[in-house]
Amino acid sequence: MTLIKETDYGTPARNASASVTLEIDGKPVTVPAGTSVMRAAVELGVKVPKLCATDSLEPFGSCRLCLVEIEGRKGTPASCTTPVEPGMKVSTQTPRLAALRRGVMELYISDHPLDCLTCAANGDCELQDMAGAVGLREVRYGYDGANHLAAEKDESNPYFTFDPAKCIVCSRCVRACEEVQGTFALTIDGRGFASEVSAGGSDFLDSECVSCGACVQACPTATLIEKSVIAQGQPEHSVVTTCAYCGVGCAFKAELQGNDVVRMVPFKDGKANHGHSCVKGRFAWGYTTHKDRILKPMIRAKITDPWREVSWEEAIGHAASEFKRIQARYGRDSVGGITSSRCTNEETYLVQKLVRAGFGTNNVDTCARVCHSPTGYGLKTTLGTSAGTQDFDSVEHADVILVIGANPTDAHPVFASHMKRRLREGAKLIVADPRRIDLVKSPHVEADYHLPLLPGTNVALINALAHVVVTENLVDEAYVAERCEKDAFETWRRFVAEPRNAPEAMETVTGVKAADIRGAARLYATGGNAAIYYGLGVTEHSQGSTMVMGMANLAMATGNIGKPGVGVNPLRGQNNVQGSCDMGSFPHEFPGYRHVSEDAVREAFEEAWHVALQGEPGLRIPNMFDAAIDGTFKGLYVQGEDIVQSDPNTHHVTAGLAAMECVVVQDLFLNETASYAHVFLPGSTFLEKDGTFTNAERRISRVRKAIPPKAGLADWEITLALSKALGYEMSYSHPAEIMAEIARLTPTFKGVTYEKIDALGSLQWPCNDKAPTGTPTMHVGGFVRGKGLFMITEYIATDERTGPRFPLLLTTGRILSQYNVGAQTLRTANVAWHQEDLLEIHPFDAEHRGIRDGDLVALASRAGETALRARISERMQPGVVYTTFHHPGTGANVVTTEFSDWATSCPEYKVTAVEVRRTNRPSEWQERYRETRRETTRILGAVDAAE
Ligand code: SF4
Ligand code: SF4
Ligand code: SF4
Ligand code: FES
Repeated sequence: MTLIKETDYGTPARNASASVTLEIDGKPVTVPAGTSVMRAAVELGVKVPKLCATDSLEPFGSCRLCLVEIEGRKGTPASCTTPVEPGMKVSTQTPRLAALRRGVMELYISDHPLDCLTCAANGDCELQDMAGAVGLREVRYGYDGANHLAAEKDESNPYFTFDPAKCIVCSRCVRACEEVQGTFALTIDGRGFASEVSAGGSDFLDSECVSCGACVQACPTATLIEKSVIAQGQPEHSVVTTCAYCGVGCAFKAELQGNDVVRMVPFKDGKANHGHSCVKGRFAWGYTTHKDRILKPMIRAKITDPWREVSWEEAIGHAASEFKRIQARYGRDSVGGITSSRCTNEETYLVQKLVRAGFGTNNVDTCARVCHSPTGYGLKTTLGTSAGTQDFDSVEHADVILVIGANPTDAHPVFASHMKRRLREGAKLIVADPRRIDLVKSPHVEADYHLPLLPGTNVALINALAHVVVTENLVDEAYVAERCEKDAFETWRRFVAEPRNAPEAMETVTGVKAADIRGAARLYATGGNAAIYYGLGVTEHSQGSTMVMGMANLAMATGNIGKPGVGVNPLRGQNNVQGSCDMGSFPHEFPGYRHVSEDAVREAFEEAWHVALQGEPGLRIPNMFDAAIDGTFKGLYVQGEDIVQSDPNTHHVTAGLAAMECVVVQDLFLNETASYAHVFLPGSTFLEKDGTFTNAERRISRVRKAIPPKAGLADWEITLALSKALGYEMSYSHPAEIMAEIARLTPTFKGVTYEKIDALGSLQWPCNDKAPTGTPTMHVGGFVRGKGLFMITEYIATDERTGPRFPLLLTTGRILSQYNVGAQTLRTANVAWHQEDLLEIHPFDAEHRGIRDGDLVALASRAGETALRARISERMQPGVVYTTFHHPGTGANVVTTEFSDWATSCPEYKVTAVEVRRTNRPSEWQERYRETRRETTRILGAVDAAE
């Protein structure tokens, strides 16, 4: 095993169609026009010394180390800033150049600590490499003069240090923060000798820095370096894998010493991230070795009993015999399973197979139920495929970007940086969100329109936008005539044209000025390529599916589907939400979104799985809880999903779980759901197993085992063992074999193999005979369903209404440093940025209630009550409050209600009528929670595992 080192070409690749041939050191080379001489040299295998250049950044030309001689030109131009020209003759090595470079290096080294042997970057330092490359043997100037060697270190960031004594002021960090990340947190203060890198006058932790790591990645010295490298030393081998946090699906090199991860470095060839990262994937992997991890299987008879550690055989045998006992007593459909979007495709596939074939029921569902199920329904209905239409790179071709109900800078940070790059190049931006999210105004990016709609009025807004398009003759008539169902379009056109859908009529419903809606609609329809990106602010509503169809309608009407730069693009929450849906996790669908009632499909699975399968859809997650409370559903296998914390109306969820006789939880930690479990099976992290994840672009990427499973088994192996104990043996020796079966049985995956993914880096489905290397853009030339189908999207107000008792609307979301239920990120140093969930409230609403910033407030709805601290914020509009749901003790979902999307039962997390008042104590639920938690997490012979 070796440490993978990607080639640094010095300057970015250029995409020009014209090419240029030149000669470097006597050898010809042909490159795209606009390429730098430096890059052309590297492509030829010639390395030119460099310090301020790196291929993730535009050339800067400050260090003067990359000088070359060009025949017919005076002087020694910098190769990084000199573009190639036809017939150019370049020399990279001459005695004159060598002397000049040595002189430059000598100056650098004379103001640099000579501690290479004990420096954490020893062996991974470009300054050290360059000193060797130019043959520097002595420094004539001595170290007595003015220097920076005593400059103080900034250790404030939990993950990296900044040691200015080692800084060569090359500006790579400053440029990385601007060009790659788009945060503009760093500057070079002062001039000449006094120049220094500054995090805006404060330390890194207090600055605008979002800890993405781009500057650390770019720094050629040990000035900015990971604390883990300082503590553990340089890594010695690496494994390329995929981030297990959000749906961007960034590729990383896990760099290790033996079985210890030293750092995670974003992989330059990653097709979703192109070498960029966010604080979660880059730094928040410490949970994998956290002391809270449960590494022994455990069982107990009652949830009030302490846990007892047992062998894998005993735990699996006990779970299987309990499921068999329950089915014998209460019937086949009294049990079910929940798959996880945090697990791999192969693991998810196995869980649904176990439920359908091993249990003999279709009672399988997934956490995607509570986030993106409306995406599947809405896009399949209108376009024919339950997935987003583009790849991420498509944003580079967008002229207008419409972001609805998504907060990419917090929830999909690497894609947000990509999008912001395009916006800085001049693309226009429309943000539809109740809050002034960062995108509305951030450095060098400002939305052309912010449509601050009231929570729950998405459909009213999309209809008003469509009304403008239709009534102002902005429809792409030729596109619609060629590609869409005529009658459906005409019916839709008449519907949205009705005066009741006009922006002026909808102004009182949405709270958005009619003029802004009109302006935004015109911009979207006429501004060139227009792309929609949306998130859970669209789906988690009682009209989530309607809204997804509404967006598809708008995109079709304006011809914005089927080419780069356009589309309807869901920003998926979890790493493998797309995959868990693709793999047949829903109770009504086999893998590949085929209904269980389709005889031919079912027969194909019956033949492959050698078992009779049910043709009726099984229970969805909320219905499982209903049935449990009714006494007909008694056993549940939950893989990697914390339903108690993540699902709405916690009281209902816990009542359902408490009514079951056998709950089996397979997870890394004793999560909130484990408090209601009878069997605990210790799961494995993404670093401990092989498999694949599918990101928001339908991109299937490899997850590669970097270390052995700490508890002995990978999640897929646990499911195999459980299935075997149930009497339904599945036999695979490696996840590649599971993928082979998926490919055999799923038309959109027909061409997917591990070999192909390894060779191409990743694959976007559909991947089949027609598209053997995958499909970056969907619906090119025609829709998957044939003709695009316009759907009527009548706005129906949610039943969740404000009134005198609950006059405010609560909406929920995530923040950058935390992830979902916090199981992973709360067990990392990311808590430095977010120690608790806060309630954001507008100053007007706060003042009215006598609430000051930092006060403990009670947040009550008709479902329940919790208490948390208030943050007064002008990001909110009056009447709307906001919180995150990362901390179990906050219990944000105690407050959310059982209302859900009409088509998919996706909960309406984004709209809850609430009241807020000052308080001085936790809510009753919180007090009860603390007690229950203490009681239900005891492990025999261990000291309080979960506190
Ligand atoms: S970590 Fe990222 S955001 Fe922070 S200073 Fe570096 S590049 Fe900028
Ligand atoms: S911190 Fe690193 S990247 Fe930034 S200017 Fe100094 S040496 Fe260059
Ligand atoms: S953007 Fe998402 S996938 Fe990428 S590093 Fe961050 S959390 Fe991981
Ligand atoms: S690498 Fe070209 S001037 Fe620094």
